[in-house]
Amino acid sequence: MAVLPKPRGPLSEALIAALVCGSVEAIAVRPGSSEDAALTLWTLYEMSYRGYDGVDDRLEFEPELVRVRRELEDDLERRLRERWPGRPSYDDGFAAAFFAMIEADDGPSLARFVQREATAEQAIELLQHRSLYHLKESDPVALTLPRLPAAPRAALAELQYDEYGGGRPERLHAHLFAEGMAALGLDATEGGYVDEAPVEVLEQNNAMSLFGLNRRLRGASVGHLAAFEATSSLPCRKMAQGLERLGFPQEIREYYEEHVEADAVHEQLAARLICEPLIAAEPDTEDDVWFGAWTCLDLESRIARHLLERWDAA
Ligand SMILES: [Fe+2]
Ligand SMILES: [Fe+2]
Repeated sequence: MAVLPKPRGPLSEALIAALVCGSVEAIAVRPGSSEDAALTLWTLYEMSYRGYDGVDDRLEFEPELVRVRRELEDDLERRLRERWPGRPSYDDGFAAAFFAMIEADDGPSLARFVQREATAEQAIELLQHRSLYHLKESDPVALTLPRLPAAPRAALAELQYDEYGGGRPERLHAHLFAEGMAALGLDATEGGYVDEAPVEVLEQNNAMSLFGLNRRLRGASVGHLAAFEATSSLPCRKMAQGLERLGFPQEIREYYEEHVEADAVHEQLAARLICEPLIAAEPDTEDDVWFGAWTCLDLESRIARHLLERWDAA
């Protein structure tokens, strides 16, 4: 179970109070800031994963909370779509154009920074921010599984089988990350570091839940997955090298080492056997596959810029 965050404004304050007392009156306040909005949406989404200790699980579909969630996610989706430049034109099939977009991505790299120069403190801070996602790794896109036609559904199940440990709970990727956190003496509770997360990290997590929880956005969900996997293998090698340079324990390096090979396979699966067949079976999803993929790169580069600027390393 996740831990309820500390409010960051009037809307998250009203929501958290309602969750704790269990009776929901009309929530009439507006978000006080983009952080307040992002944290409120994150808190609502967690109700659809593991929920919170002491919070009634039935509130997941409480109409007033669904209304608030819809307003916040409509606003997030509108902003994400406004940023997106649109899909490239291409003739040679999705996968070739997709890998060309990944190749052309020149956003700043946190993994390169950790590999070469991050201090132990900076690396710990990054792991804390990453824990928001890695402790429930693959869960958002798992929600997309039943919404896909047969061929991409089978391929996504194959990919997820790896993410969820191939039948071995101790190999679950989220569990590997939790072991790494514990070996560093960090809190491995889901959402344990949400109070420290900047708005960019909250939005990255919210975008994955938005895409995973809404069937109409299944294209964006698998597009996001493909871009995530395709930008993981080499950066994970750099992370593992950086954590070794800093003398971090084997457990946390192992999480990254596991992804060097796994994600080199996953990126091929995601692009060629999930996205491409989805577009072939349901051509209406094509734009959203690109939208999801581009949004993945954009949200990651916003986090990287934010942290590197704060660390004076940009
Ligand atoms: Fe993974
Ligand atoms: Fe993966």
